[in-house]
Amino acid sequence: PKPLLAPTPPMGWNSWNKFGCNINEALVRQQADAMAASGMKDAGYRYIVIDDCWQKSRDADGNIVADPERFPSGIKALADYVHAKGLKFGLYSDAGALTCGGRPGSAGHEFQDARQYARWGVDYLKYDWCHTGPRNAEAAYTIMAKALRESGRDIVLSICEWGVNQPERWAPAVGHLWRTTGDIFDAWEGKKDWSIGMVNILDLQAERWRHSSPNAWNDPDMLEVGNGGMTSTEYESHFSLWAMLAAPLIAGNDLSKMDADTRRILTNADVIAVDQDALGQQARRIWKEGELEIWARPLKGGEHAVVLFNRGKAPAQMKVAWDQLNLPAGLKAKVKDLWSKQVTNAVRGSYGGTVASHGVIMVRITPDL
Ligand code: DGJ
Repeated sequence: PKPLLAPTPPMGWNSWNKFGCNINEALVRQQADAMAASGMKDAGYRYIVIDDCWQKSRDADGNIVADPERFPSGIKALADYVHAKGLKFGLYSDAGALTCGGRPGSAGHEFQDARQYARWGVDYLKYDWCHTGPRNAEAAYTIMAKALRESGRDIVLSICEWGVNQPERWAPAVGHLWRTTGDIFDAWEGKKDWSIGMVNILDLQAERWRHSSPNAWNDPDMLEVGNGGMTSTEYESHFSLWAMLAAPLIAGNDLSKMDADTRRILTNADVIAVDQDALGQQARRIWKEGELEIWARPLKGGEHAVVLFNRGKAPAQMKVAWDQLNLPAGLKAKVKDLWSKQVTNAVRGSYGGTVASHGVIMVRITPDL
């Protein structure tokens, strides 16, 4: 059976969103240093994941070889460096003959690659879906899952087939997380090549809550917080909503050059606690009218997390009523605003306020005993 390696959604950093193929070992070490020193590690971020373009070729025995110009010290040394910081180390490959970036993929080399990853000290594999020809996705990912299990090392399997082969039907038994869409890009909304904006990704998640559970998470793609294409308010919304979705929180910015605002958003402990809640229940969109939406998820122990989300161009008055959460209208509760940190006691019936354009109010509701 699948090892229990993701009882809560994985948290970490990945090179792709900010750096694409422009990666090297000094950069990865720098990100590990920054994760450890910036408060990200203390906030729960663990995995340093190198995405596409670290590979160069295969040797005469078929072993995968890292790009010697970009990674002259080799992958093992880099994994050791990351581990010495108390962090975990991840790599990327692809179920096809080539990765999306045209490097060697793992098709036909699954067991050999998995053994190599284990020797190097890999803790997490993101496994992509380019150049797979007529391969069956479930079969392809099942082979890699088996190879990882037999490698002798605990390795998280991140399935990256973009939601195109109904992964909700088979991925929960095979991997620890699976992408549900094409790529995100750093914008509130829109389309760019194969990528779509933040709210476009969000719209594709609303019906997916029933497929997600501990050790088997929907993955709405990595975070863009701090990459510059959205406002601070929009990044707060992005981070809040990803936490509501029980999404893997994989930062995609340059951790070594984070400004205070980016750090404030990515390390918001209350929002992260919602993402990491032990019940592991993904939020549902429980109400929508025009550009206003309410997302809610039950938390362990009878608490609830709620996001009031305003997609509109003007501020809006919004509230959630207790009966929308299936709570008795007369119930008294403590309500904590997870961004302003304001706590209101003995709230009855409903809670709300003015939600900024493109912003959220995110709260944790704790019924009084
Ligand atoms: C497609 C994936 O969806 C992206 O996240 C990234 O891994 C690229 N491939 C790398 O080529």
